[in-house]
Amino acid sequence: MTDQVEEVSVQANAELQKISSIEELESWRVRYLGRKSKLISVLRSLGDVPIDERRELGARANQVKASLEELYQAHKGKIELSKHESLERDRIDVTLPGQPYQLGRLHLTTRTIREICDIFAGMGFKVVEGPEVEWEYYNFEALNMPAEHPARDGFATLWVDYEAPGGGRPMLMRTHTSPVQIRTMEKEKPPIRVVAPGRVYRYEATDATHEWMFSQVEGLAVDRNITMADLKGTLFEFARRLFGQDRKCRFRCDYFPFVEPGVEIAIDCFMCGGKGCRLCGNSGWIEILGAGMVHPEVLRGCGIDPDEYSGFAFGMGVERIPILRYGIDDIRLFYGNDLRFLKQF
Ligand code: DAH
Repeated sequence: MTDQVEEVSVQANAELQKISSIEELESWRVRYLGRKSKLISVLRSLGDVPIDERRELGARANQVKASLEELYQAHKGKIELSKHESLERDRIDVTLPGQPYQLGRLHLTTRTIREICDIFAGMGFKVVEGPEVEWEYYNFEALNMPAEHPARDGFATLWVDYEAPGGGRPMLMRTHTSPVQIRTMEKEKPPIRVVAPGRVYRYEATDATHEWMFSQVEGLAVDRNITMADLKGTLFEFARRLFGQDRKCRFRCDYFPFVEPGVEIAIDCFMCGGKGCRLCGNSGWIEILGAGMVHPEVLRGCGIDPDEYSGFAFGMGVERIPILRYGIDDIRLFYGNDLRFLKQF
């Protein structure tokens, strides 16, 4: 019987170590200290034990019982404490204010491009795109700017260091969206009406009014009997839809190698109504785009007979529009990725 008591003590101790829940602990208590447990039945049957063994066995059994009861209480305390601690740790203060969601939004440039394209789509123009890494041929040559043409100086060009498989075909980052005109005319027969938004690149030191990357929207219409009147009507209507129905438009001569004649289009200043202010540089006019009648050489180069067809083309800077509208004083803000700026639109 003494052996039994010792065995119970060792076993109970070992099992207790593995117990981590109140339920397990309770069944442990029933097993080792309950009325039907070995230990209690030993104590109950002490009367049957020979007198000389009784004292020692009784003392030992009571000692084990006391120690198990003590262990039981201590373990119970430990489990309760850890439960309490995890409750404390996982506590949620439901009175705290919630975290607002950060909503994304379209970039100001994207929104402006969509606005421009929507206006032209409403006039029957289709939206097309071209590559940003472009052959010199499309960016210059096909646009009536052969090598050594002085107009190339106006485009600070980023050349791409790339040896074409055939050799000798220089590549660059397109300096304007005009090459998309050529790509379109090579693929499609007139009537053509397209607008082509996209990024363009210039090899330029940046400052408040210069970025090495910005966006343009190009436009092209080619058909029979297209005249300067179509150009004026279309672009005048565009300017009014974008800047307000009572805008006035001014057309002046300008030079671009790929059009003849070329024009520069301005609207009367929407800030001062043409009186002259800071926004329009006191001139009363704000230039918004370049345009012209597609040069016969350009048409011919794309396999379109200039005696049968004519067209007009235009190109505009995208960032310039919100710059004017919102009085943004630094173009670098557009691609500086400062959310404090971008979130305002
Ligand atoms: N590509 C010209 C530029 O980047 C803008 C331009 C002017 C485009 C006249 C045209 C045009 O299509 O007809 O400065």
